Amino acid sequence: MSKDLFDAAFAAMQKTHSPYSRFPVGAAIRTSDGRIYSGCNIEVISYPEGWCAETTALSHFVMGGGGTITEIAVVAEKKAKCTPCGGCRQRLAEFAGPETRLHLCDNNGIVETLTMKELFPYGFEAEVLGKGAA
Ligand code: THU
Repeated sequence: MSKDLFDAAFAAMQKTHSPYSRFPVGAAIRTSDGRIYSGCNIEVISYPEGWCAETTALSHFVMGGGGTITEIAVVAEKKAKCTPCGGCRQRLAEFAGPETRLHLCDNNGIVETLTMKELFPYGFEAEVLGKGAA
């Protein structure tokens, strides 16, 4: 049941700080043990310094103890099926698996569901860098 994940993303979107783009976004992440972390986009007057809703949600996920991500929901008030930007795809892929589901939403709920592998094929991976090393 993913309605609760949509609700968390939608609630997070209400907290957006996006006075420059006026493009509110919310994201929510569910872990395999049932935790939900959410986030909104946060912008800064020096425009490149802002960051996306997915990145805020990932920050909460990591600070909450991390784990395995099973589902992600993204909602943008002004655009149905808003997909994560390139940088956020790489960040999500750091913690999500290829089968992790990504729900694209409108203001009423989930519209389409993709897997991470569909959203982000051929992402950068480099065993030599030792992902998972301390
Ligand atoms: N944004 C997100 O938060 N997530 C996305 O998936 C796409 C874009 C934000 C960044 C910026 O604050 C605003 O939307 C306009 O680009």
